[in-house]
Amino acid sequence: MVRDLHAYVPGEQPKIRGLIKLNTNENPYPPAPAVLRAVRKATDARLRLYPNPASAPLREKLARLHGCAPANIFVGNGSDEVLACLIRVFVEPGAAVPARHAARATVQYLWPCYSLYPVLAETHGARAHAVPLEPDFALPAVEKLRRGRSWRFNAALSLITTPNAPSGRGYSTPELEALCVAQRGPVVLDEAYVDFARDHALPLALRHPHVIVTRTFSKSYSLCFQRVGYCVAHPDVVAALDKVRDSYNVNGLGQVAAMATLDNLPYYRRNFARVIQTRERIRRELSGMGWDVLPSDTNFLLARPPGPPASEWLARLRARKILVRWFSSQQLAPFLRITVGSDAEAGALLRAVAAIRRREG
Ligand SMILES: Cc1ncc(COP(=O)(O)O)c(C=O)c1O
Repeated sequence: MVRDLHAYVPGEQPKIRGLIKLNTNENPYPPAPAVLRAVRKATDARLRLYPNPASAPLREKLARLHGCAPANIFVGNGSDEVLACLIRVFVEPGAAVPARHAARATVQYLWPCYSLYPVLAETHGARAHAVPLEPDFALPAVEKLRRGRSWRFNAALSLITTPNAPSGRGYSTPELEALCVAQRGPVVLDEAYVDFARDHALPLALRHPHVIVTRTFSKSYSLCFQRVGYCVAHPDVVAALDKVRDSYNVNGLGQVAAMATLDNLPYYRRNFARVIQTRERIRRELSGMGWDVLPSDTNFLLARPPGPPASEWLARLRARKILVRWFSSQQLAPFLRITVGSDAEAGALLRAVAAIRRREG
């Protein structure tokens, strides 16, 4: 029943003057000037018209970028919509499924991961099945999953956040492929943060018909506001996704912005490098102040502060107008998740941490 569902809880978007927002993994750098120009240019009387219903020109451009066919590409209203459509395609709502076929109604994921997955499963009436990652957020080996008996190799859909959120840990393509090959049901590799990583697993979507790689323009391409995401998958999967999406699922200005983004990749690649450089600076300097900072392949860091509990650090940083994210679950409660901002924002964060430490000492 809808009454019993739990809505997804996004990071806060408070309108506080001078606030440094390091809580929702947005990119600190603006879209390329040419992207802003393209959006402005498209903002005229044509807004009365429907956009391209299938985002066809964008699919063609993405296919060229990834060396595949347009038939391998599906575009959605953010990768959130792509994930929702994938569940609609592959997972039977639980009430209609006899108990002996429970796997057909199971959305499975390695936990912790993107916290939208259980929400999407629940709203679809499916069974959300979480299997823990290793304590250090590594992928469990296939043999261990077989022995553990909790992982369902025949689940209707399995989702892996790679690199992982909220830990930031990256996974190698061979270890992901070993798990995909062992899996009988479809596997989604959610690569929302992959442009900040050392490795990516896109070839697996072109090599294995049951592997789907999702990507987004939100994070690395500074385009959260426009809501454009996509996946690379077997043409049969793309055809099925096209049956379950809304008819005009990607808004026109989003399509324009995403197309212009793909024409300006060198600008964004420079920004990836800047974010990675700032990430490593924060990691180094926080470690120097006694924090336990996990290695990251993303645009955020999971870090355990010394002294007071992480929730207390959250409040103290907020009092200094720096907003980071804290998750209350047992495994994550000792940590803060800190989005890598600009170098100036990193400087402010590090100064605030040093000041809080001095007051503590
Ligand atoms: C792992 C992961 N996947 C997908 C998304 C959704 O991205 P989009 O803005 O494309 O819907 C997020 C956003 O936070 C994310 O963290």
